[in-house]
Amino acid sequence: MKSILDQSGPVDDVASAKVRLPVARFRDASEASKRVAREIAQLIRQRASENRRCVLGLATGSTPVRVYRELVRMHREENLSFFNVVTFNLDEYFPIKPESPQSYHRFMNENLFNHVDIIRSNVHIPSGTIPLENVSGYCRDYEDLILRSGGIDLQLLGIGRTGHIGFNEPGSTRDTLTRMVRLDSLTRKDAAKDFGDLDRVPLLAITMGVDTIMQSKRIRLLAFGEHKARIVQKALQNRMSSTLPASYLRQHPDMQYLVDGAAASCLPPSIFGTPLQ
Ligand code: F6R
Repeated sequence: MKSILDQSGPVDDVASAKVRLPVARFRDASEASKRVAREIAQLIRQRASENRRCVLGLATGSTPVRVYRELVRMHREENLSFFNVVTFNLDEYFPIKPESPQSYHRFMNENLFNHVDIIRSNVHIPSGTIPLENVSGYCRDYEDLILRSGGIDLQLLGIGRTGHIGFNEPGSTRDTLTRMVRLDSLTRKDAAKDFGDLDRVPLLAITMGVDTIMQSKRIRLLAFGEHKARIVQKALQNRMSSTLPASYLRQHPDMQYLVDGAAASCLPPSIFGTPLQ
């Protein structure tokens, strides 16, 4: 089958060369990650050529690691500069110190920021150390900063087994903005391997809201592995509702899922190449 996605790996998502379809299945996580990294690089370069900034919404976790690796490679080998890039991360545990091994500050530094020429003041990650009484003002300021930077051009997402995007756990409504949330027990269980023990996983986090994410101009959600297959299928096919926050993404005009074969294994073949309603 022909592909609009201009990539080396086989993909069977495409019925028409003109329509951008929401689910693309790739040979493996590496192919999908390279595809997204290329799209991000193109956007950064296009904006640089127009003397404009490129605002990226970034995710952490195991899913986007290969994307960051590819972007670092492009910076080193293909002169991709991050000089015009502004970033907003989705979330951070609370409370957590930025130097803690599990902190998303540390994750981003180790996986991306320490290896590229981004201007540090252009990097924004929710803080895990602000006093509780300042959290709501802090979250409003985070939203403001996103707006004042011109809005997120491209938001990178993973998906949790609860159906969360960012840390918008089941119960997060379509209109939610950046705020403090309580982590779902399944999310904490999944994080226990990073913290060494379930009891050490924070109960809370600060996350962009569903609406914050939906305001991004483009959304690219990556999902890899068999453990994501059920939730990907539900997010794409179940009724849209706050019990499955990722389901809201179907309302977005420029959203795409990029999945490997394992994460796609519960999807009906007809979904590839059929724009979702
Ligand atoms: C991380 C985030 C989360 C993860 C999700 C998947 O910043 O916002 O929504 O994307 O929990 O995590 P992994 O990629 O580790 O499976």
